[in-house]
Amino acid sequence: MKILFATSEAFPLVKTGGLGDVAGHLPLALQQLGAEVTLALPAYRSVLEKVDAPVVGWVSTSHGYALLRETTLESSGPRLWLIDHPTFSERPGPPYVDESGEPWRDNSIRFGAFSQALAKLAIGHSGAKEHFDIVHCNDWQTGLVPAYLSVEPERPATLFTIHNLAYQGIFPASCLETLHLPGELWSPLDGLVFHGQLSFIKGGLVFADRLNTVSPTYAREILDDAFGYGLTGLLNHRKRDLSGILNGVDLDEWNPATDRYIPQNYSSATLDDKAINKAALQKEFGLPPDPGAFLIGNVGRIVEQKGVDLIIDALPLLMKLPIQLVLAGSGDSLLEGALRKAAGTWPEKFACYIGYNEKIAHLIEAGADAFLMPSRFEPCGLNQMYSLAYGTPPIVSHTGGLADTVTETTKQTLKTGKATGFFIDKMDAGGINRAVQTALSIHSAPKAWRNLQLAGMRRDFSWEHSAREYIELYEQMTESGKAALAEH
Ligand code: ADP
Ligand code: GLC
Repeated sequence: MKILFATSEAFPLVKTGGLGDVAGHLPLALQQLGAEVTLALPAYRSVLEKVDAPVVGWVSTSHGYALLRETTLESSGPRLWLIDHPTFSERPGPPYVDESGEPWRDNSIRFGAFSQALAKLAIGHSGAKEHFDIVHCNDWQTGLVPAYLSVEPERPATLFTIHNLAYQGIFPASCLETLHLPGELWSPLDGLVFHGQLSFIKGGLVFADRLNTVSPTYAREILDDAFGYGLTGLLNHRKRDLSGILNGVDLDEWNPATDRYIPQNYSSATLDDKAINKAALQKEFGLPPDPGAFLIGNVGRIVEQKGVDLIIDALPLLMKLPIQLVLAGSGDSLLEGALRKAAGTWPEKFACYIGYNEKIAHLIEAGADAFLMPSRFEPCGLNQMYSLAYGTPPIVSHTGGLADTVTETTKQTLKTGKATGFFIDKMDAGGINRAVQTALSIHSAPKAWRNLQLAGMRRDFSWEHSAREYIELYEQMTESGKAALAEH
C-alpha cells in the first residue's frame, strides 16, 4: 500500500506541538508494518538547513512553481518530499508565524500552494510519476488537498485527520479564486465556504473520503455543539465516515530508562531513582530542594485550550497546600505575564519557564511527582501519556484523549491495580484544587502511590498499535481493501 502522508510539521525537523510528534512517528510505524510511506512537508528554511534534499521535480501552483526535493526522514525512515515554494524556503523562523509572532499574512497562499502541489503529485503530475493508494492529510494546512483532488476523475482515496478542530484556516473568500479552486467547490453547504469565508478545514471535512480524530472520545465530542466549533452539523452529516484512533508515544524518545535529557535514568524496577530527577528539577526552577514537597508539573502551549487560566485562578488555593508547582510553555502573552507575576508572588512554591525547551519538558516528566493537565478539550494529548510512562500520575480533565488514556483512582481501581491518575470533576479553581488534594492524599500513602505509578508505566501506548488501526482504515478505503472486506 502506497501512502502520501501530508503534514505541516514533523519531528525532529519541525515541531510546534503534538502534530509534529505524530507526523514524525506514525509514518515510521506504518512503514514498519509494510506500508510504503512518503512523508510530505513544506520546505521551510529551517528544515532545509537540517537536511540535504536534492531537487527531483517541480509542480506549478496558482502562485508560481514549487520545487520538489527528496530525501529520507532519518537514515532508515520513510521517503521525505519537501515542497519548496519560496514562501517556505526563503523565510527563517517557525512555520506559521513571523518574527513578531503573528501568523504570516499570506498563510493562505503558502498552504494553498502546498496543498495544490500535493494534489498534483498525488495523481502523478510533475516529474514524480507516482501512484498512491491513499493520501492522508492532517489538519487545516493540508485541508485543501482533498478538495483539489475531488474534481479529478482518477485519484487516490483521501483520509483527513482532525488533530484540533479549533484551528480551521479561515481566509477571505477572494482566496477561492486566487487559489484556483474550481467554482463548483465554492458553496457553503457542500463546499469550502464557512460564514462567507474560505475554510481550509472544510476542504478535508467535506471532501475527504474518510475522517478521523486522534481519540475515540474526541470523535464523539465534536458531534456536540460544545466542541464542534461551528462544524457540528457537517460532522454529524459525515458521522458514518468518522472514527477515532488514539495517538501513540515514541518509546525511544520518551522512555525514562533511556532518556538522554534527564540526569538519572530509571525504570519501574528502580523507581526510587526518580528522586534524583526531582531534586534536579527543583534546582533548575530555583525551588527549595524539599524531597517531601508534592511536586506537580505542567508542560504545554499556554492557551485557553490547555486551561492555563484555570491553573492561574487555582493558585491562591493550591499554594496553601504542601505542594510545589512548575510549568513550562509558551503562547498567549497575557497568560505568560500572569504566570511570571505568580512566580514572583509565591517564589518558594511556584516557578515557570516561558519558552520552548525539549530538555526541560523531559525533566518535568521525570522529576515531577504528578502532572497537571486541566484541558478544556484535548483531541488526544501526549503529555499525559508521557507522564504515565514516567511514573508521574496525571491529574486531568475528563475530555478527549485524556478520558481515553487515564484510569480514575477510586477505591475499586486502587484495589484492582488499574488506577493511573485523577480526574478534575469541575473545570474551575475549586475542581482543580479538589483533584490535587485527592492526589496529595494518595501520595501520602506510599504503597498506594507506587501502585499507581507502576500501573501507568505498564500501559502500552506504542505507535505500532495506532499504526495497525490506520492500516485497517486505509484498507477499508482502497478498492482492493473494500473487496476483501466484502468477501468476509
Ligand atoms: P498540543 O499538540 O495540543 O500542543 P500535545 O499534548 O498533543 O498538545 O503535544 C504537545 C507536545 O509539544 C508534547 O510533545 C510536549 O512535550 C511539547 N511541548 C509543548 N510545549 C512545550 C514547551 N514549552 N517545551 C517543550 N516541549 C513542549
Ligand atoms: C493537537 C491536539 C492534541 C493532540 C495533537 C496530536 O494539537 O491539541 O490533543 O495530541 O494534536 O494529534
